[in-house]
Amino acid sequence: MNRHALTTRRLGLEPVREAHADLVFAQMSDTRLWTYFAHLRPGTLEDLRALYRRWERGTPTQPDETWENWLCFLRADGAGIGSLQATIRGQAALLAYAIYVPYQRQGYAREAAAAVLAHLRSTHRVKTAIAEMDPRNEASIGLAQSLGFVRVRKGQRGTDLTYELTLR
Ligand SMILES: CC(C)(COP(=O)(O)OP(=O)(O)OC[C@H]1O[C@@H](n2cnc3c(N)ncnc32)[C@H](O)[C@@H]1OP(=O)(O)O)[C@@H](O)C(=O)NCCC(=O)NCCS
Repeated sequence: MNRHALTTRRLGLEPVREAHADLVFAQMSDTRLWTYFAHLRPGTLEDLRALYRRWERGTPTQPDETWENWLCFLRADGAGIGSLQATIRGQAALLAYAIYVPYQRQGYAREAAAAVLAHLRSTHRVKTAIAEMDPRNEASIGLAQSLGFVRVRKGQRGTDLTYELTLR
């Protein structure tokens, strides 16, 4: 199990625990967060608790995968503002991210993702970060591009775009 807390100028990133579900369920229920993947939205607090419980255990279904999941908190007031995930397979990691609606467009995703990418490189020796997104997801594309990711191909599910970043 890999569970690393990370700190940036404005944010603390804590490994997700089941108890976090109660703190962030209201924000996670905002349908605007799920525009491009509505089917993944946790319907109830118990659903979110179960998801976070699984993440807290951190046991991958694939033996060659490592999962790291973080909840982002503002260091200034402790508010939960979003989450990031990394699924690590060998020297590649799939990155996913969400910043709750009231906290978007303030550079938090970029700040948190930059810290996660540095961690993936230094701790897990990841060489390639991958981000997949719906082609209409301008915010996710904007974030990936802002971090230096470049578009490489259509994603595995046919409709998604795949972006990659070589970590140096
Ligand atoms: C994608 C998401 C995480 C971005 O979070 P954020 O904190 O608002 O992003 P930031 O403020 O750090 O912005 C990072 C970059 O993306 C750009 N960006 C952010 N939102 C944007 C939007 N709606 N349209 C275009 N560009 C956008 C910013 O301009 C910035 O670029 P810059 O550094 O060149 O100025 C957020 O919109 C979100 O949670 N969306 C819903 C969940 C989701 O779709 N996750 C991705 C799944 S693949």
